[in-house]
Amino acid sequence: MDQINVSLNLITKESELECISLRPREDQLNLVASNSDSLLHAAKEITSKPYGVYVEDIMVGFILFDNEVYTDGYYWILRFMIDERHQGKGYGKLAIREIIRKLENRMDCKQVRVSHGPHNIVANRLYKECGFQDTGETEENGDIILSYYSK
Ligand SMILES: CC(C)(COP(=O)(O)OP(=O)(O)OC[C@H]1O[C@@H](n2cnc3c(N)ncnc32)[C@H](O)[C@@H]1OP(=O)(O)O)[C@@H](O)C(=O)NCCC(=O)NCCS
Repeated sequence: MDQINVSLNLITKESELECISLRPREDQLNLVASNSDSLLHAAKEITSKPYGVYVEDIMVGFILFDNEVYTDGYYWILRFMIDERHQGKGYGKLAIREIIRKLENRMDCKQVRVSHGPHNIVANRLYKECGFQDTGETEENGDIILSYYSK
């Protein structure tokens, strides 16, 4: 298979509408907030950085991550989705690997953390394939917390 080049680019005023138009499948709508909601969150929380997932020059998905390292050395992936038209092509996995690559370069990054709904088997498998491990911890709402331990 040809090498697929997935890159992450900060959402700008110009790319905002394209980002909002991306949606997961109908049956996945309960798994992640809408991208418009995530962009509102990012506008309010200065440390939350919204990135488009790009394959060539096409935005295929979205990642919101918290650019603030917590005192314990954790960075958090807050939201993550791939548009329904682009799922199942390996882009999700490549996007997570790319964000790990970016964060691991930071001296202060000890862990990258993410949480997902307890029944989200696809997300769990994807994160584990990218090196995330169970922490045994959950969010208040029951979401499962996984962690990638940085070198
Ligand atoms: C989770 C999500 C981002 C995966 O994106 P994707 O681009 O389809 O994922 P990939 O193509 O990289 O696939 C990764 C793995 O998941 C598997 N997979 C993808 N979709 C699947 C499905 N519907 N059913 C079963 N397996 C699936 C792939 O086969 C692949 O496994 P493999 O590497 O062993 O072959 C996407 O399904 C999504 O946006 N879901 C809704 C939002 C969500 O759940 N976000 C995460 C919340 S934290």
